[in-house]
Formats: sequence, structure tokens, C-alpha cells
Amino acid sequence: MNVKMMMNIEIMLSLLLSLAFAPWCIYSQEQLLVGMTLVRNAIAYGAVCLDGSLPAYHLHRGFGAGANNWILQFEGGGWCNDIPSCLERANTRRGSTRYMNKFEVFSGILSDNDSLNPDFYNWNRVKLRYCDGASFSGDSKFDNGTSLLYFRGQKIWEAIIRDLLPKGLASARKALLSGCSAGGLATFLHCDNFTKILPSNASVKCLSDAGFFLDEQDISLNYTMRSFYHDLVALQGIEENLNPNCTMSINNQKLCFFPQYALKYITTPYFILNSAYDVFQFHHSLVPPSADLHGRWNRCKLNPAACNASQINVLQGLRQDMLTALYSFYKNSSRGGMFINSCFAHCQSESQDTWFAVDSPRIHNKTIAEAVGDWYFSRRVTKEIDCPYPCDTTCHNLIPSPQGLR
Ligand SMILES: *[C@@H]1O[C@H](CO)[C@@H](O)[C@H](O)[C@H]1NC(C)=O
Ligand SMILES: *[C@@H]1O[C@H](CO)[C@@H](O)[C@H](O)[C@H]1NC(C)=O
Ligand SMILES: *[C@@H]1O[C@H](CO)[C@@H](O)[C@H](O)[C@H]1NC(C)=O
Ligand SMILES: *[C@@H]1O[C@H](CO)[C@@H](O)[C@H](O)[C@H]1NC(C)=O
Ligand SMILES: *[C@@H]1O[C@H](CO)[C@@H](O)[C@H](O)[C@H]1NC(C)=O
Ligand SMILES: *[C@@H]1O[C@H](CO)[C@@H](O)[C@H](O)[C@H]1NC(C)=O
Ligand SMILES: *[C@@H]1O[C@H](CO)[C@@H](O)[C@H](O)[C@H]1NC(C)=O
Ligand SMILES: *[C@@H]1O[C@H](CO)[C@@H](O)[C@H](O)[C@H]1NC(C)=O
Ligand SMILES: *[C@@H]1O[C@H](CO)[C@@H](O)[C@H](O)[C@H]1NC(C)=O
Repeated sequence: MNVKMMMNIEIMLSLLLSLAFAPWCIYSQEQLLVGMTLVRNAIAYGAVCLDGSLPAYHLHRGFGAGANNWILQFEGGGWCNDIPSCLERANTRRGSTRYMNKFEVFSGILSDNDSLNPDFYNWNRVKLRYCDGASFSGDSKFDNGTSLLYFRGQKIWEAIIRDLLPKGLASARKALLSGCSAGGLATFLHCDNFTKILPSNASVKCLSDAGFFLDEQDISLNYTMRSFYHDLVALQGIEENLNPNCTMSINNQKLCFFPQYALKYITTPYFILNSAYDVFQFHHSLVPPSADLHGRWNRCKLNPAACNASQINVLQGLRQDMLTALYSFYKNSSRGGMFINSCFAHCQSESQDTWFAVDSPRIHNKTIAEAVGDWYFSRRVTKEIDCPYPCDTTCHNLIPSPQGLR
């Protein structure tokens, strides 16, 4: 079979598929699966994934009273901060749309079912796929003649926005920029610009889920996360895309990649959802493998009930540092909201069981979905801080597998 024939078959197949799946979503075992949209115009703007593939998003249309409202959700998935790890990532679903599932489950904050997602179910809901390795913020390239990597997260963000504007985003009445983990961090980087793009009379707010990564010392007193981000910002050319008010006010400008330094310069109303014992930060920032060479923390990492008293003390220190970093936001941000619970978790808005279910985690008897909805619609002030571990009996304390944790 020659190349041309193969290409024709491919085109026919993709036509058939797009007809079969029109309107580009299916329900499988009561799960909503939404098809991928590749951003065809992106190449012209140099907006490509690590490997040069096209960026993508998944859009499920709003309806009824939500038809003019939009929620954009950044996908998460860690970062790559040197050439070898980015080259490796470029050959996975974290660095290339070629390897991604073409359908995404829309659940939790992305669900279209009013009994599972009471405030946002009828909005236009978009998942922005993550393939740049730097929270949608890099703008550079690596090319040494034999290896080629694109660091174009900033351009990917802009290309997706450009694609969505004529699809109705340009006339949004309400909007929420959201994301989890590395995607939660991306909301801090892009929140104020998102506001500028939308109509000035639109109500625009931002939500970070598990994206409040702290500038924390690890148990061997190293700033592991700080040096990781330092390398990331340098490698991917992020510095010029950081909040200018923050970089002007600080000597070490790369620190503005940390939400805790940039937050006070963000003017858009914010909701910060995070576990005070965020499992990613526990495993990679507080007790990274480099600081626990003998694996003394392994059992405790897998099950908080197996931690001894001094380990629990160290974990209480993490919680305290998070609350300290959020203190002036807590005190002074009149339009801000927060939900800092004490469950061992990482990302709580996208999965149904933590977002809104009968046995979901709660603070003061309020689920995360209710807290976020109350804040978004100004129904009541929502700044919830949980009592310290192990007091909260609503926690699931689900520790993701090391591979799932990124
Ligand atoms: C919405 O979710 C509820 C609770 O899980 C379920 O009983 C109902 O069938 C769902 N509705 C639709 C249209 O899927
Ligand atoms: C280019 O970089 C890759 C990855 O660091 C390396 O393996 C390769 O040898 C380099 N090629 C040249 C020509 O330096
Ligand atoms: C914003 O202004 C436009 C143009 O005047 C109008 O059509 C739209 O309804 C307004 N939106 C809101 C949320 O008030
Ligand atoms: C924000 O938008 C301005 C132009 O409006 C642009 O110059 C800047 O790079 C953008 N910053 C980010 C982080 O997107
Ligand atoms: C950021 O800096 C500009 C220019 O100096 C200033 O007008 C603006 O108020 C600052 N914004 C914040 C949130 O500090
Ligand atoms: C701490 O950081 C220094 C400087 O980056 C490094 O040389 C050292 O190996 C680190 N120690 C640990 C335990 O990670
Ligand atoms: C708890 O475990 C750590 C790590 O194994 C150990 O260094 C420490 O001595 C233990 N502390 C107590 C109070 O048992
Ligand atoms: C709150 O804001 C006021 C006025 O800007 C400032 O003086 C005060 O220190 C802030 N409080 C906290 C806890 O950051
Ligand atoms: C907690 O909220 C649920 C509804 O979400 C309600 O049925 C229950 O009575 C409340 N419990 C308390 C102690 O207020």
C-alpha cells in the first residue's frame, strides 16, 4: 500500500469517527467522555507541545442558563526541568498529544450533571491539555542539531484562547479559570491576563486546586523545590512571563513562579483549594527521596497512620507553613475564598468523590463544590481552614500511586 492510499484511509477513518461521535462526546458507564479538539492554527504561532505536536483541548458545550458561562481547566502533570527529563516526557502523554487519550472523562467540576456539579454543570467546560512541561508558561526551544524540544507553553495558552474566543468565549458573561496541580499553578500565572482578554463586564474568577506549591525547606534543610523551579524557569524561558509587579519587587525574580510570592499582585478574585498535607508536596518538596536516602519515610508516605510522632510533627510544620503563606490572603482578600483541608490528597476538584458526593470531605459540613459555588456566586464568604490531622473524619486519605502523583 503506498503512502497516499494510507493517508486517504486515515482521512476516511477520521471522518467516520467524527461522524460517529458527533457531537463529540459519548456517555460510557454513566461517565461523560469528551473528544479532543486539536488546535490546527497553533503551528503558525509556534504553539506546539514538547515534541512539536499540535496542542489540544476538550470542549463540552454549556446549555440553558449556563450557555454564556465558561470554565477553563488546566490539566496538571508535574514539570520537566532539564533536557533529559524533557526528552523523555516528549515521548509520553505528558509531552505530546500524539500519545494522549483522545477522550477525557469530565467529572467533578467538569460534570454536566446538576446533581453531581450543582453550580457549573451547564457551563461551557473546557479541559486544556498539558504538553509543555512548564505549567503553560515557557517560551523557548532547545536544538543542538540532534535533539529538538519546544518549550512553548505560553504560546499554547494563547493559541487555545484564540481558538475559543470565536466559539463564544469572547462574549462570556461568567468565567472561571481553574486547574489542578501543575495546572493549578498555571492559574496563578495566567489569571489576570485571562481577565483582560474577556469582556470588561464579565465576572471572571480563578481557582487553584493543589497548585499552591510552597517555597519549603525539605527535611535536610535544602530548598529542593526552589532549585527545581529555578532550573525550570531558566530552561524554559519563563522569567519574562512572570508577574511583572512581583519580579520588580524581588531580587530573585525566578521566585515569582511560586504562588506565595505572586499572589498579592493578582487582582482577580481567587479561590485557593489545597490540602494542608498535599501529598505531592509531602513526597517531593518536604521529604524528597534525596533527603531520605534510607527510606525512613516510606511507610509514612504510603499511609499517614504509619507515621511516628516526630514525622507527624514535621507534617504539622508543613501545614503551619502553608497557613502562614496564606495568612495575609486570609485576612485581607475581601473577594478571595479558600478551602484548606487536612486530608492527605492531591487535586480534589476533578474527581467526583472529593468534589461533591454524600461522603465527600467537608469542612464545617460543607463540601468543596458548595464552598467554591458559595464563593463564586457570592452567596457567602467562604474561607475554610480545617483543624489539623487527624481530627477530620470526612477525609478519604487516598494516597495516589507514585506514578499517578505528578
Ligand atoms: C446524575 O447523577 C445522578 C447521581 O449519580 C444519577 O442518579 C443520574 O442518573 C445522573 N443523571 C444523568 C442524566 O446522567
Ligand atoms: C544533543 O543533546 C542530547 C541530549 O542532551 C545529547 O544526547 C546529544 O548528544 C546532543 N547532540 C550534540 C550534537 O551535542
Ligand atoms: C456586557 O456588555 C455587552 C455589550 O453591551 C452585553 O451584550 C452583555 O450582555 C453584557 N454582559 C453582562 C454580563 O452584563
Ligand atoms: C499578559 O498579556 C500581555 C499582553 O496583554 C503580554 O505581554 C504578557 O506576556 C502576558 N503575560 C502572561 C503571563 O500571559
Ligand atoms: C502593578 O504595577 C502597576 C505599575 O506599576 C501598578 O499600576 C499596579 O497597581 C500594580 N498592581 C498590583 C496588583 O500591585
Ligand atoms: C542540598 O543541596 C546542595 C546544593 O544544591 C546539594 O549539593 C546537596 O547534595 C543537597 N543535599 C541533599 C540531601 O539533597
Ligand atoms: C520516627 O521515625 C524517624 C524516621 O525513621 C526516626 O528518625 C525517629 O527517631 C522516629 N521518632 C520516634 C519518636 O519514634
Ligand atoms: C492587610 O492589609 C493592610 C493594608 O494594606 C496591611 O497593613 C496589613 O499588614 C495586612 N495584613 C496582613 C495580615 O497581611
Ligand atoms: C450536613 O449537611 C447535610 C447536607 O449536605 C445535612 O443533611 C446534615 O444535616 C448536615 N449536618 C450537620 C451536623 O449540620
